[in-house]
This record gives sequence, structure tokens and C-alpha cells, in this order.
Amino acid sequence: MSYEMITARTEGGKVGVVTLNRPKQLNALNNQLMDELGHALKGFDADAAIGCVIVTGSEKAFAAGADIGAMATYGFADVYKGDYITRNWETIRSIRKPVIAAVSGFALGGGCELAMMCDFIIAADNARFGQPEIKLGIIPGAGGTQRLPRAVGKAKAMDMALTGRMMDATEAERAGLVSRVVALDKLMDEALGAALMICDYSQIAVMAAKESVNRAFEGSLSDGIMFERRLFHAMFATTDQKEGMDAFVNKRKPEFKNQ
Ligand code: CAA
Repeated sequence: MSYEMITARTEGGKVGVVTLNRPKQLNALNNQLMDELGHALKGFDADAAIGCVIVTGSEKAFAAGADIGAMATYGFADVYKGDYITRNWETIRSIRKPVIAAVSGFALGGGCELAMMCDFIIAADNARFGQPEIKLGIIPGAGGTQRLPRAVGKAKAMDMALTGRMMDATEAERAGLVSRVVALDKLMDEALGAALMICDYSQIAVMAAKESVNRAFEGSLSDGIMFERRLFHAMFATTDQKEGMDAFVNKRKPEFKNQ
């Protein structure tokens, strides 16, 4: 498979590096990009030489969320029947080798959710995290309302989901969303250093440790994810979703009608 929206390379023969590559759209996540990401991750997972994978974006944006232009005209029937938008996002959870998110710039909406699907996040000092879906008349749909409270607690998760405000890297580290913050120009060195260290450990132990931590982290997550997904799809039956997304696409202020 040749990639258009990501690049995939190896470092030191043992670290897989996937770079999201839609810079003009701030790496907005559409089906094609997520298919390509899933394909690359599965390839690295199956490659015996690879011990760890890094997912990263550009300096300005890890990813600014699901592609609003692509979603703007969807109705409930489309998203529900086709399990659209987040259908192919779960691949990342099935990867058994460690996946590190190296985040610089915006990690918003689906971008924040994608980072949280990785095993841990190393952030550059310019990273900004947020779940701004509320501004579009919808809610997070790729695990944000479930993983964010587990990572940062209810108070901050509610604050972010209800106000749509962003968290900077310092706050994200303090809150436990990211494991380390480094200077922007050191981000890839830091992520690669961690990945190479992991590669040097027993792959079985590494995989078992990952599985075990996830077990603790994900108790009862599935029900929450399914509940969230149904509500997310239901948002596409509302007038406010059309208004929020049309306003974004046409660069105007939305006028929500609460309908
Ligand atoms: N989808 C599609 N296009 C996007 C995008 C997105 N999520 N985010 C940014 N872009 C595009 C913009 O439309 C713009 O394109 P044009 O140059 O063609 O106009 C380009 O990227 C650059 O963006 P801005 O000009 O807006 O850049 P900025 O620096 O002024 O602002 C930003 C950056 C704050 C990230 C702003 O772009 C923004 O608010 N983006 C939307 C963030 C968002 O709402 N994300 C949630 C999406 S819904 C979701 O993710 C659902 C889910 O849970 C699965």
C-alpha cells in the first residue's frame, strides 16, 4: 500500500515512525488517513525487527481532529449505518507493541483522542490538547469522554469537554495526560530515546507490561465507548451539528438553536 496522508519509516532498524502528513489541513483525520495509519501500524506490529512505534505529526499540529469538512454533511443514518468517522480508529488499540505519541502543536478532538489511544504521550512544549467538539454541536466520538477522565480526572475532563478549552503542555503533564514535556527541537530525540530503550527490553515482557497496564486502565471502557459512540452518532440528527460544522466550514460564528 502506498501512503498519501502519512509517511512511515524505520529508525535504527528497530523503531517504526509514522508521521501524519496532511499539513495544509493540520493533519485532520479522515478515513483515508486512518486507514493508512492502521495499515502502517499493523505492518510494524507484524515485523519482528520492530520493537516500538512512534506516531507523530508536524510542529504545528499532531492532528486538529476528525476532518470537519468531510463530516459536515453527514446525517445520523450515514454515521450510524456505516459506523462512520471512528470505524477504523480502533486498529491502534489492537497493536501489541508499544506505541508512543510524540505530540507537538495542536492535538484537538480526534487528535487528542488518537494521542490518548497510544500507550503514552511525550509532548513538545508547544503542544496543546483539547476536546473542542462542543463548539461544533457534537461530543467527542473516539474515546475522549472515556479516556480523558481516566487520564486527568473528572474535573479537568468535564472542564475540557464542556468548555472546549485547550490545555497546554505544562498543564497536561501536571494533570497526567502526558508523561514528559521537552523542548520542541528535542521531541523526536526524546521519543526515539524512549523507543530505543524499550526495543532493548524483552519484547515479551514489554508486550505483557503493555497488556497488563491496559487491563488496569480499560476496565469497563468498552461499555463507555459504545455508549459514547451511539450518542456521537445521535448528534448527527441535530440541527446544531449542521450549524456548528457549516459555520466552521464557512468561517462564521455558529448560532446554535439547541435543536
Ligand atoms: N477538519 C478539517 N479541516 C481542518 C480542521 C479539522 N478538524 N482543523 C483545521 N482545519 C483546516 C482549516 O479549515 C484550515 O483550512 P484552510 O486553510 O483551507 O482554510 C487549515 O486547516 C488551517 O486551520 P486554521 O486556519 O483554522 O488554523 P489556525 O492556526 O487559525 O487554528 C485550530 C488552528 C485552532 C486548530 C483551528 O483550525 C481549529 O479550531 N480546528 C478545528 C479543531 C476541532 O474542532 N477539532 C475537533 C473536530 S471533531 C472531532 O474530532 C470528532 C471526534 O471526536 C472524532
